[in-house]
This record gives sequence, C-alpha cells and structure tokens, in this order.
Amino acid sequence: MCSVVLKETAVYVENSNAPARKPVTVPGLHAMKAEGRKIVMLTAYDASFAAQAEHAGVDIALVGDSLGMVVQGQSSTLPVTLEQMVYHTTMVARGLSATLLAADMPFMADRDVSHALEAGARLVGEAGAAMIKIEGAGPHILEAIHALTERVIPVCAHLGLTPQSVHKFGGYKVQGRVQDAADRVLAEALAVQQAGASLLVLEGVPTSLGERVTKALDIPVIGIGAGPHCDGQVLVVYDMLGLTPGKRPKFSKDFLAGRSSVGEAIAAYVADVRSGAFPAAEHSYN
Ligand code: KIV
Repeated sequence: MCSVVLKETAVYVENSNAPARKPVTVPGLHAMKAEGRKIVMLTAYDASFAAQAEHAGVDIALVGDSLGMVVQGQSSTLPVTLEQMVYHTTMVARGLSATLLAADMPFMADRDVSHALEAGARLVGEAGAAMIKIEGAGPHILEAIHALTERVIPVCAHLGLTPQSVHKFGGYKVQGRVQDAADRVLAEALAVQQAGASLLVLEGVPTSLGERVTKALDIPVIGIGAGPHCDGQVLVVYDMLGLTPGKRPKFSKDFLAGRSSVGEAIAAYVADVRSGAFPAAEHSYN
C-alpha cells in the first residue's frame, strides 16, 4: 500500500510532465563508456532516497553493504546479512523505474559458488536487483562471477580498497600505492573482466592507477576515491549529504551544503560527475 503511494507521489506525479526516462541497461552503460559519457552511481537503502536518485537522473542505484555502517551504525560492513540486503533491495526497487538497481553480495554470501548463486537468485529474483556487486578477485570470486554471468545475472566487480577486507588490510587504507600493488590491482581488474564482470567499482586507489585501469578495461570503471579519469563515480548517499558522523571522507563532498533539499544535492552531484567537475584533485589520492 505504502509503495503505491510512494510511486504515485515521488516518481509518477513528479515525472508526469516530463518524458519518461529510458531504462538504464548494461549495454547502455557500455555505450556510455564508448561515447565518453560519465556514469553516475549512488547508494540508496530505502524507497524514498531511491526515488530522489531516480528523479535526479542517477544511472545506477547501489544497495551497498555500507548500510551496515551508515544505517545500522556498525563499525564495518561485515555484520550485514543476506536477509538484510534482500530487505533493503526490495525497498529500493519500489522507488525506481528507470534507474538500474545493483545490490551488494554481503560478506561470506559468496564463500562458494553455490552460496553465491543462491544469494544472486534472491537479490535478483526476489528483491528486484539487475546486477550483483562482488568484492575481490580470488579464485572463488572469479568462479562466482563466471557462474552468475553464465546464469544471466550481470556482475559488478569491486577492487582496490574493498571494505570487506578491512581486517586483511589493517584498516580502510588506500591500495595500489607501490608499483607491485598497482600491477596486482590491474591484473585483478583484467581477471574479473575476463571472468565476465560487466562493470567494475574501483575504490581507494591513486589517480594514476584509476586512469591505468580505466584505459585497460573494455567494461566501465566506476571510481570512488580513484580519481577523475574513471568512466563514472559512486558515492555513499549519506556521505554526499554530509550526514556521516565525524570527518567527511576525503573522496566525498557535501553536496547539500548551500542547497535546500536532498533532491537539489543529488542533482548537483549528477551534474558535477557528468561534467567532470567531481571529483577534483582534493577528493583524489596520489
Ligand atoms: O557498500 C557500498 O556502499 C559500496 C560503495 C561504497 C561502492 O560498496
């Protein structure tokens, strides 16, 4: 009942005077890379924020397991369960009509291929996602990417500073700063593409590595703290609204500052990513 009201107010009525947006598709995202048009991705965790993202022209809404930190107040993404991801993805799906919906594979839901397929089936078949994002490039992850794409579930890989590896990295640290590590990230990026990934999120790496990976890959590379040369950008919505407690992450920007609504802030983010104004050098790593 509530979802119908939301769709009629936030999405249907607001867009009723505007031409309907063409649905964003995986081939459409690949065409954007080929044409040099920047892709805009933003996290969403509920139907109302999803509708705001849709209205502002965001291409991809990501139900990130960052919800563990920004919604649940946990200190990492590790406690987020598949059940919670299905719940939030279902809510976000109700706020969207044209925006492509991606959902995170939570920690350990990809521990082997059969669990990864089961999680993918729930997030796509039950919750309404069109793409699953998976962190890492270990042998079992490459196998899972291959198995999911073989079963027509598009996959977004996630490399660089992968938050589920926080204990391995010893914190949320920029990756790929020395030559060996940068070469390893590039090799992993080529491997996930080879395994069948349709998209790559590259997080927390120096600008030069962001550029190197983006140029080497045929699939679109969406950066977060990976510099301005990526094919698109993603931010956590609470970060770009200045809602995250404590210090603003270097790679983010408070788009709500000086603006009067969430809708205006998201529209400014979309415009700045499309024009290349965001991220600036101050949001990037050397
Ligand atoms: O969980 C998340 O929100 C993410 C983005 C930061 C890319 O993985």
